[in-house]
Amino acid sequence: MSTQKIIKKVTIDTIKKMKNKTPIVMITAYDALFAKLFDEIVDIILVGDSLNMSFCGKEDTLSATLDMMIYHTNAVANGAKKALIVLDMPFGYYTCKKDALKNAIKVYKKSKADAIKIEGGAERAHIIKYLTKNSIAVMGHIGLMPQSVRSEGGYKIKGKDEENIKSLIQDAKAIEEAGAFALVIEGVKPTAAEEITKAVSIPTIGIGAGVKTDGQVLVWSDMLGFFEDFKPKFVKRYLNGAKLVKDAIKDYAKEVRERKFPTSEYVY
Ligand code: KIV
Repeated sequence: MSTQKIIKKVTIDTIKKMKNKTPIVMITAYDALFAKLFDEIVDIILVGDSLNMSFCGKEDTLSATLDMMIYHTNAVANGAKKALIVLDMPFGYYTCKKDALKNAIKVYKKSKADAIKIEGGAERAHIIKYLTKNSIAVMGHIGLMPQSVRSEGGYKIKGKDEENIKSLIQDAKAIEEAGAFALVIEGVKPTAAEEITKAVSIPTIGIGAGVKTDGQVLVWSDMLGFFEDFKPKFVKRYLNGAKLVKDAIKDYAKEVRERKFPTSEYVY
């Protein structure tokens, strides 16, 4: 008898059905090694364009390319068999509906991404609609949108006043109507995120948006404490990864320098 475990793949439908029932757990991953560690525990793995910062050491996400995102999504798919895999469309690859579809088709042809994520509110709804009508699964992303960091002159928290909350709700509804299956809400005041979540029937996944969204997402290298350049207020470090790694490397370097490694245990 085969002892192989049957893996039940998370689908778009699984995620949609979780609204108002089970909080959705999403995390980023950029490679097979970490994707494999996260896969059984989380619902969604996002191959975020945040990799341009934490993986590539760039100042923002804007120079990420589609080929980079496809390369990392393929690495993640080699490690993750269960979680839904979402590829973050990089800046400049969905400025009009024709380009967006051409690039989304490239993603589906060249990777095992289950869906793509697109930043933008009501102004991008026509693009999302065009994609969903052409069999592309889309996750929206509103509030603080990292790809707008230069045009907005920084990372700006949203949902601070009634007018902005109203406009965020309009964004969320437009994205829902366009056919997106879920929506990331980033850097938004908790009361605003709660109102948005109540206003739509698709699940919302918050990051820096309080506890009242349908799920949460964090960037893996932030929450495991590997990325030390800066720590946004919303990041809880569940591990001091940088210290653990540095301590281990120091031990290794010391043993090499003192000719204590390798001992007989580690030779053929
Ligand atoms: O790129 C990313 O990691 C993201 C998350 C912050 C949601 O878009």
